[in-house]
Amino acid sequence: MERLKLLFAPGLEVQFADREMALKKIEEWARESTRLPQLVFGPEGCGKTAWLRQSAVLLKELEFHVIYVDPLRKYFEAYTDVKEVVKRLADAAAEALGEAKIKLASLVIDLADELIRRRKRKIAILADDVFQAIGLGEAASYVKALLGIIEYPPRSVDAIVVVVATSEGVTRREIGRHRWANHRPMWNMPKEGFKQLYEQIPGEKPPFEEAWRATGGNPGLLAELYRSRWDINEVVEELVRRKELTPEYVQRWRTWLAKAVEDPDALWSPDAPRELIDELIEKNLIVYNMFVRDSRFWAGEPPPERDAELGIGKRVAWQTPLHREAVRIALEGA
Ligand SMILES: Nc1ncnc2c1ncn2[C@@H]1O[C@H](COP(=O)(O)OP(=O)(O)OP(=O)(O)O)[C@@H](O)[C@H]1O
Ligand SMILES: [Mg+2]
Repeated sequence: MERLKLLFAPGLEVQFADREMALKKIEEWARESTRLPQLVFGPEGCGKTAWLRQSAVLLKELEFHVIYVDPLRKYFEAYTDVKEVVKRLADAAAEALGEAKIKLASLVIDLADELIRRRKRKIAILADDVFQAIGLGEAASYVKALLGIIEYPPRSVDAIVVVVATSEGVTRREIGRHRWANHRPMWNMPKEGFKQLYEQIPGEKPPFEEAWRATGGNPGLLAELYRSRWDINEVVEELVRRKELTPEYVQRWRTWLAKAVEDPDALWSPDAPRELIDELIEKNLIVYNMFVRDSRFWAGEPPPERDAELGIGKRVAWQTPLHREAVRIALEGA
């Protein structure tokens, strides 16, 4: 398979590294088709977009007609010889952002239909961050429409693959109400794979173990560290700001936050305040209600059962060690 070159930071391209199991999952879906849309969610920056874009290449090589859209960035890839499809995507992407977002997200449904009408027999739709583009209120009906293509294609097909990725913890709940999608968590990169990425970074850098303990294998965070010239404090401060961990906020939840910093599974206790849990999910600080660590249910390698150092509990995990560190620092400051 041709491995993609990805922009890791301004002026630095890296080659798509590892994710062997997650790519195997795509091969499995290509063989068997997805009977329901696959909703992939995971920590912010864990590599969902990179994997989806690499998957588009893989599916092309497996002779699929592939449409990948990333409406928030007005970006798309179309691997198909149907020029009309490419043109309609390009026209949509050329619109102003507000229009383009909605159009790109909804177009994939029409264009999948169009490809099938034109007797294309292997179809893949990969939709990235669509829910942020169309709004959470539309998420469920969007997934239902995707399911419609799988269940009632306008002609018969040999294989169809539908994958939607989101980092919004809240969408998971919104869509979980219905049985219209399979939920597939993705975790940060496994250690060996992460090392392959780390080794591609030039210049002076902290030892690998240090990068691993800070990021827990999250490539997005590794990129932030690189951009900050490996200034962990700066990256943590930025997280505190971005997550709005204000003194007032952490003061309010001090006891439970302190417990969760010690052990995220504390939030699994029946006494843990639901309001706090929901906010931590919404802020993309934790992943709540982690699936059993069986690779059948995951897109790629599941995380370990527990890893106290990385902040991974059995049922609840910090998205990365630095997400936990941001909360710890905010608690100290308050
Ligand atoms: N397997 C990989 N090999 C090389 N680089 C990667 C890999 N996965 C991710 N990256 C890089 O790490 C950064 C974050 O990855 P990516 O944007 O795919 O994460 P994400 O899960 O889609 O994030 P978000 O939650 O913000 O949508 C990007 O710069 C990306 O190019
Ligand atoms: Mg992404």
